[in-house]
Amino acid sequence: MIDNVKDLSRAERIKQLERKKLRNAILKCLFPMVVVGVGMAVYGLFVFGNFTEYFEEEQLAGTIGRMLLGIGLMAILFGGVYEYTRSKNTSVRDYWLTAIMMLITYVISASLSGFVNIYIMPLSLATFVLIELIDRRTATLTTAAMLVMFIVTFAFTNRPEDIVLQEAVSSVVIGAMSAVLVNFLEKKHFSRIKYLLVSLFTPLIVQPMNVFLTLMMEDYSINILFHVLYAYAASVGAALVFMPIVYIFESIFNIADDFRLNELCQLSHPLLKRLASEAPGTFNHSLVVGNLAEACASAIGENPHMARCAAYYHDIGKLKAPIYFSENQSTYNPHDELIPEVSVSMITSHTLFGEILAKQNKLPKEIVDICRQHHGTSPVSYFYRKAINLKEEGDLAMDQYKYAGPKPQTKVAALIMIADTIEAAMRAYMPDTREEYEQRITSLIDEKISLRQFDECPITMGDIDIIKKTIIEVLPSIHHSRIDYNKKKK
Ligand SMILES: [Fe+2]
Ligand SMILES: [Fe+2]
Repeated sequence: MIDNVKDLSRAERIKQLERKKLRNAILKCLFPMVVVGVGMAVYGLFVFGNFTEYFEEEQLAGTIGRMLLGIGLMAILFGGVYEYTRSKNTSVRDYWLTAIMMLITYVISASLSGFVNIYIMPLSLATFVLIELIDRRTATLTTAAMLVMFIVTFAFTNRPEDIVLQEAVSSVVIGAMSAVLVNFLEKKHFSRIKYLLVSLFTPLIVQPMNVFLTLMMEDYSINILFHVLYAYAASVGAALVFMPIVYIFESIFNIADDFRLNELCQLSHPLLKRLASEAPGTFNHSLVVGNLAEACASAIGENPHMARCAAYYHDIGKLKAPIYFSENQSTYNPHDELIPEVSVSMITSHTLFGEILAKQNKLPKEIVDICRQHHGTSPVSYFYRKAINLKEEGDLAMDQYKYAGPKPQTKVAALIMIADTIEAAMRAYMPDTREEYEQRITSLIDEKISLRQFDECPITMGDIDIIKKTIIEVLPSIHHSRIDYNKKKK
């Protein structure tokens, strides 16, 4: 957690950590980008140039130089611009996903424009897929990288005065403009009808530019119409094939995009059905935490679908022995018959078992991690106190009465920890005055801060304050407003 008012030395340490992360990120992004850069450069020469000539002895040095130019530009775009201006760490998986999608789009676009017609350039394919699977920034930079590679390829495979070069450049510009517009208009998790509308109407917006560029080349023939039709068909085609590609990537990379998260949030999912029948108290608790987490994530600019979904699954580890958790007990409490050491190990192991169960069910990594991290290294105070009371003399080490961790590593994991703690506490006892209710929520959050549970994630004090206010507003409506707002604390 970043407290930007106090503790400057800690802020400095966090800065150092961020610099180290940045260096690692730049190093890890270079390999996929170089691989894809080589692939694009070689394929570009194959489609648009006289391939064998470029690799003959007298041209080899020049060819390598041109390829290095293209690859260097890609490396600058991704290693420098992308990472340097990005607030969070990019995973290796996202780089490979971006690189593969870039290569697929480049190969399809180059093949169609090289072998069918230069105006068929479906550059918006990568945009559609990457917005859904990663984010808008990645999609934008990918379009820029492909534009650069095409221009470099065209520039070295044609003479500047060639009409083919002018057409090629105008085609790639139109393709890139379509991609930029799709990027601007498309939102994650559109309904099918909105996807259809974006894919049909966006390419129309850029076609006047296509006509204009054709006229600039002093071509006043029927070609104008063909250029428009080919470019339009390319953009619509990209929109049609993006869904199957998204599905394939979701499966290969186990990606938690919004389509997948929505599927996982269906209460008919086998794991949630098991939770509802075997641990109904935990199931209800998870649904309420889901509502709170979704509202908090929206309020601090995190993915609300991810927050809801992770909340639904955060306690699946309790399926191993539901009766040991208070929300699933009615009259019988097995802890009455156990020593505190055994009780606490039954309780704390639900994070580890949850992680195992989530992996077995191939849940996305973000959710697996939250199953493990949502209690961080918090102590189970009730059983610690019980053990102290039973102990006749001497101190008792707290370590045995804590969750094993790790602490939350992301903002979503942190907000689920907060929502989870507050929901569980309010389920046990809901204060009946507004003042007491707010005080209780504040003290529950302050306790987690004092236990340094947010030290390993990038959440700020500002975020925590927003989360607190959101929960204060949202929770009474979920609990059917049992708080008397006018009643004063006695
Ligand atoms: Fe839990
Ligand atoms: Fe929980």
